[in-house]
Amino acid sequence: MMSTTSASTANTAPLLSLKGVTSYYGRIQALHGIDLDVYAGQLVALVGANGAGKTTLLRAISGVQPHGGRVDFLQQDMGRFAPSARVRAGLSQVPEGRQVFAPMTVEDNLRLGGFTRDKEECAHSLAQMYQLFPILQDKRHLPAGTLSGGQQQMLAMARALMAKPKLLLLDEPSMGLAPLMVREIFQLIQQLRDQGMTILVVEQNARAALSIANWGYVMELGQLVMSGSGEQILNNDKIKKAYLGM
Ligand SMILES: Nc1ncnc2c1ncn2[C@@H]1O[C@H](COP(=O)(O)OP(=O)(O)OP(=O)(O)O)[C@@H](O)[C@H]1O
Ligand SMILES: [Mg+2]
Repeated sequence: MMSTTSASTANTAPLLSLKGVTSYYGRIQALHGIDLDVYAGQLVALVGANGAGKTTLLRAISGVQPHGGRVDFLQQDMGRFAPSARVRAGLSQVPEGRQVFAPMTVEDNLRLGGFTRDKEECAHSLAQMYQLFPILQDKRHLPAGTLSGGQQQMLAMARALMAKPKLLLLDEPSMGLAPLMVREIFQLIQQLRDQGMTILVVEQNARAALSIANWGYVMELGQLVMSGSGEQILNNDKIKKAYLGM
């Protein structure tokens, strides 16, 4: 008899699923029970005012920030997984402010990103990264600190991709960049999604992020206050006033 179970259910389960995620800094509660799903192949934008808890949430997902509640990734409870184990499971984060290792060369920064993989896989991914980001190949022997802000953002993204993630977490990728470079970074994010990468992106530049996102979440004071398609959120009157300056 044909079974209608696993394959179809597996296809519809979210890649990442948060249930009641909480987090504290000392006695201050930064996350108040977050429920959030990210489906495979989608670009999901998380927007909200300064201090809303966006970075804390991404750090909770990648495991560098302690959290309560459940973080399920690939239908596996990440609760007991250390950050490095979460990277091995397929979660890679590009941190706020990029955090490249300034004195190290571009190539050594990239190699660090491949720490979970063997030499051959690393060499293969390195070649892929140089194809995707030709400027990094040109500058591969230079200290990362000599790159422009936009180039450092590309390096931080490429470093995260070196782990061959199944979900890429991006924290404010356009922060501090010139308008032309902002556009380029957003194009890159779209390109990655179109190639099949699943992405959860936090952005101050809410309008730009929501306009390319499949789905969006709005966060306020440690809670999610709205979710919907990028378009639905962009057309919501309250959100327009609060975040989009319209
Ligand atoms: N290391 C820390 N110690 C204490 N409180 C912190 C710490 N980091 C963040 N917080 C507090 O937790 C809350 C959420 O901060 P978080 O950085 O996650 O917000 P955010 O949405 O990423 O803000 P931004 O848009 O400024 O990056 C804020 O009230 C912040 O002051
Ligand atoms: Mg932040």
